[in-house]
Amino acid sequence: MTVDLSLAGRHALVGGASQGIGRACAVALAGLGASVTLLARRADVLQTVRLSLPAPAQGEHRILVADLSQTDELAAAINPLCAESPVHILVHNSGGPPPGSAHEADPDAYRRAFEAHLIGGQTLLQGCLPGMRAAGYGRLINVISTSVKEPIKGLGVSNTIRWAVASWAKTLAAELGADGITANNVLPGFTDTERLHAIISGRARGADGDEAKVAQQMRASVPAGRFAKPEEIANAVAFLASPAASYINGINLPVDGGRTGSL
Ligand SMILES: NC(=O)c1ccc[n+]([C@@H]2O[C@H](COP(=O)([O-])OP(=O)(O)OC[C@H]3O[C@@H](n4cnc5c(N)ncnc54)[C@H](OP(=O)(O)O)[C@@H]3O)[C@@H](O)[C@H]2O)c1
Repeated sequence: MTVDLSLAGRHALVGGASQGIGRACAVALAGLGASVTLLARRADVLQTVRLSLPAPAQGEHRILVADLSQTDELAAAINPLCAESPVHILVHNSGGPPPGSAHEADPDAYRRAFEAHLIGGQTLLQGCLPGMRAAGYGRLINVISTSVKEPIKGLGVSNTIRWAVASWAKTLAAELGADGITANNVLPGFTDTERLHAIISGRARGADGDEAKVAQQMRASVPAGRFAKPEEIANAVAFLASPAASYINGINLPVDGGRTGSL
């Protein structure tokens, strides 16, 4: 028996696909045969990513220029996409909320994060669900953070909203499992993307300005001794999207080189 990783004939919608982890997920899913719709706000960058993808087994790769925080417009955009080509795999991924302590955050920062991360995800899922149900095959994969295992200092709003998204997925897993739909969360560790570079710069500003030193301290906290490549996060997402992961439902999967100290 071979491990069935084929996504031929499946359509994946990948958020935050213009760079970083989202772009790597799109490449990985296309590599397994899926047609991919790339969602983010920058049309020109999405077109460049689209043209870089290997041809799908069926259908075509598309872009969907949308802002996950503008959920009314998102709802108007998702339904025509799903009517044209039902979505079977939803990778809910975006930029992270800005850093800062929980107690000092403006209440509106929590509202904005909830809108983009939770309501945005719900809007996409509701557009995709009829197609997933009709196919008897659905995969919701949220890219969130190891902060659902251990809150990360200095990421107050992010820590809070990640828990909401994780709990949303766990609840969906119980509700939708009978329809052949799974809902899981991937928790990246330090991953070499533009967001990580911004975090390193921010931490260096709060210390002595030495970015190389901050990066080295962060690497030293990882048993693997290095940052992840975005492709290493995407490998986990692609596996969860595949037929081989049919009995994995409702989990939080850290992909962090062993950094998280809790089980
Ligand atoms: N990198 C890490 O070390 C790390 C660690 C733990 C968790 N994470 C989490 O993993 C996720 C992806 O991280 P990353 O490092 O790949 O981030 P990134 O480099 O900042 O990329 C974020 C992506 O999301 C898109 N995006 C941002 N805001 C959006 C919006 N409102 N609507 C639609 N698209 C939006 C961006 O594209 P446009 O600008 O074109 O819209 C971009 O493609 C984030 O939630 C991050 O917090 C990352």
